[in-house]
Amino acid sequence: MFFFNLPFGWIGLKLFLEPYFLKSFYVEVLVLRRYKIAVLPGDGVGREVVPEAVKVLDAAADVAGGFKLDYVEVPCGGMYYLEVGKEWPDDAFETCKEADAILFGAVGWPKAVLPDGQLAGIRILLNIRFGLDLYANVRPAHLYEGVEPLAPGKEKVDFVVVRENTEDLYASIRGILDRGGVEDAAVDVRILTRKGCERIIDYAFKMCLSRNGAPADGKRRVTCVDKSNVLDGCRFFRRVFDEVAARYPDVERDYVYVDAMTQWMIRAPEHYDVIVTTNMFGDILSDLSSVLIGGMGMAPSGNIGDRHAMFEPVHGTAPDIAGKNVANPIGSILSAKMMLEWLAQRHSDDSCRRAAQLIERGVAEVLAEGKVRTPDLCRGKYVSVKPSRTSEVGDAITRKIEKQK
Ligand code: NAI
Ligand code: MG
Repeated sequence: MFFFNLPFGWIGLKLFLEPYFLKSFYVEVLVLRRYKIAVLPGDGVGREVVPEAVKVLDAAADVAGGFKLDYVEVPCGGMYYLEVGKEWPDDAFETCKEADAILFGAVGWPKAVLPDGQLAGIRILLNIRFGLDLYANVRPAHLYEGVEPLAPGKEKVDFVVVRENTEDLYASIRGILDRGGVEDAAVDVRILTRKGCERIIDYAFKMCLSRNGAPADGKRRVTCVDKSNVLDGCRFFRRVFDEVAARYPDVERDYVYVDAMTQWMIRAPEHYDVIVTTNMFGDILSDLSSVLIGGMGMAPSGNIGDRHAMFEPVHGTAPDIAGKNVANPIGSILSAKMMLEWLAQRHSDDSCRRAAQLIERGVAEVLAEGKVRTPDLCRGKYVSVKPSRTSEVGDAITRKIEKQK
């Protein structure tokens, strides 16, 4: 009797006395949706900005309620290579594959070079992009109030570069012709497939329908950027663009050659809504677009496939400022926001959508107030603002989110 009564009596007492125990058990275990996030801070400033993104994510999840993020940290990159002798742990790819989403920092560190001369860590990024078929590299460029525009009159910047992410010159069909120890020739093959072009162009048109149009005239517009006056691959890309565009009669089509685009993007950014292009052109144009929105530290991105996705700031490891707690974490924080939007869409989860909005508002408020900002944003009329540290910017955004509780 004693053995039966004691435990049952104790649980009964606990349930009787502590209804909140039951409630919190119910909320934690049965109601909360849980998402597993693989976190790969990588090298350099990646290790400084990603913890700020995680801090902000936790605050947003807490205030929005309804879901919880479980993080699995995966060490990787050039610094890891110098310490351990490999670029990431053996089970790292599987961890990324099993996760609901991946949050990435940046990889590549001076002196961390593989025996074949490649920078250690870069392969990780490509392994994830190709291995998980993350075909859409989505890079929004939005100029926030409180961030200095490049030039007066250029404050209406709100476009997205949709860059193909799995083919073109990055498809790893390449080699060096070595004759008698002399490197004589090098070749990189550019491959574009119908499947690859069609799905990225369709992604761009669908994204356009979810946006508000170009800042200049409010028109929904998809701009095809190529070099079809010279390259067969680009003529092919443009033909597929026209085929896909025919399915979206309410969206305006626009065409620009990539060389001309580098100046139009700076001279008339307000004309653009969604820009779709091949892998390498997109890589270059999206770095350029970051100049319009306050610099590399402000630019977020998502690498998105049909089942998996990875989110990372556009910038690299910034060895020139790494280790000083001065890197701007906003690119990483906005990438985390994009991750929540993707989770919201994939799992029809409104609580993730709410959390993403909280982050958006938190970032916008901190920037508009113009008081807490890293040195890269202390320019123009903000030149006399005392620069804040990376972690102080993360804290300020977290406080704004907590105030919305
Ligand atoms: P980078 O993006 O690291 O730096 C370019 C410039 O932007 C530097 O002046 C840097 O100080 C500044 N910058 C970058 N992030 C910033 C931030 N959060 N806040 C304020 N300023 C910031 O590009 P870089 O110098 O060409 O490459 C450095 C390393 O990063 C290389 O090893 C490169 O291979 C790697 N890399 C990795 C990428 C990735 O993992 N996705 C992308 C680009 C470069
Ligand atoms: Mg780049």
